[in-house]
Amino acid sequence: MDLLLQIQNVKKSYDESTHALKGVSLDVRQGEFIVIIGSSGSGKSTLLRCINQLIQQSGGSIIFKGRALEKASKNEIKKIRREIGMIFQHYNLIDRLTVIQNVLHGRLGYMSDFRGIFDLYSREDRWNAYKILERVGLAEHIHKRADQLSGGQKQRVGISRALAQNPSLMLADEPIASLDPVSSDKVMNYLYRVCHEDNIAAVVSLHQVDFALKYATRIIGLKNGLIVYDGKPEDLTQTLIDSIYENEKGQQEYDLHSRAAAQTVVV
Ligand SMILES: Nc1ncnc2c1ncn2[C@@H]1O[C@H](COP(=O)(O)OP(=O)(O)O)[C@@H](O)[C@H]1O
Ligand SMILES: [Mg+2]
Repeated sequence: MDLLLQIQNVKKSYDESTHALKGVSLDVRQGEFIVIIGSSGSGKSTLLRCINQLIQQSGGSIIFKGRALEKASKNEIKKIRREIGMIFQHYNLIDRLTVIQNVLHGRLGYMSDFRGIFDLYSREDRWNAYKILERVGLAEHIHKRADQLSGGQKQRVGISRALAQNPSLMLADEPIASLDPVSSDKVMNYLYRVCHEDNIAAVVSLHQVDFALKYATRIIGLKNGLIVYDGKPEDLTQTLIDSIYENEKGQQEYDLHSRAAAQTVVV
């Protein structure tokens, strides 16, 4: 498997007292579906934001396809970002636009400002957007306004918009945190499937351990800005899970949904 992303001793401080990442190292290969688990405040969002340079790390190196992001120019970062799809907890859709218009926004990074301002998407872009929506089961809803959709449908639009970028890496920050267990499983299933079919590597942060165990090819446990587990889901024992989620007071903070929601993966 080809090396896609190298994270080398990455540190991030927001101020003198907040060290969100304290030296994180991680290689991501094509075809991996990595799930990051860890309690609230462990640094999951910070790590994902550093990877697509929404924020800059304070130290260490992030290398995407051989290019060090901290040394890249603004223009290079713009081009690299096209290859990195991002999915958000709160979907970040434009409510007043239709489903397909939201998905077409994934193409903006490839267009001139002029074409972007006037929504001058090519026929090919429109056709591809439709085909993507078909893949996530939304073909009948393409002309609905985004605000008329359920949470699970909105996140499938979020996945579609990221896919429209034609990414080689997909980042998702708690993509199912606002959804009920059944919708969560559906969204994870689509996300897993499209990444698997298109050979897109994924780095997904989740708060729910059961979904991590079900979908990840590899699990990273983050705790207080450090990786405390990096391995296969089948090697993640209950004792390890407990230690990842144990706070200073010795209390557990993980969110294990009923296992009924997490059955077999359909690929
Ligand atoms: N914009 C910010 N400014 C200051 N501190 C922040 C900011 N974002 C996150 N933090 C702090 O960094 C740490 C890691 O946060 P975060 O990456 O959001 O963790 P997670 O996503 O795992 O909940 C926490 O202590 C959090 O309070
Ligand atoms: Mg977060």
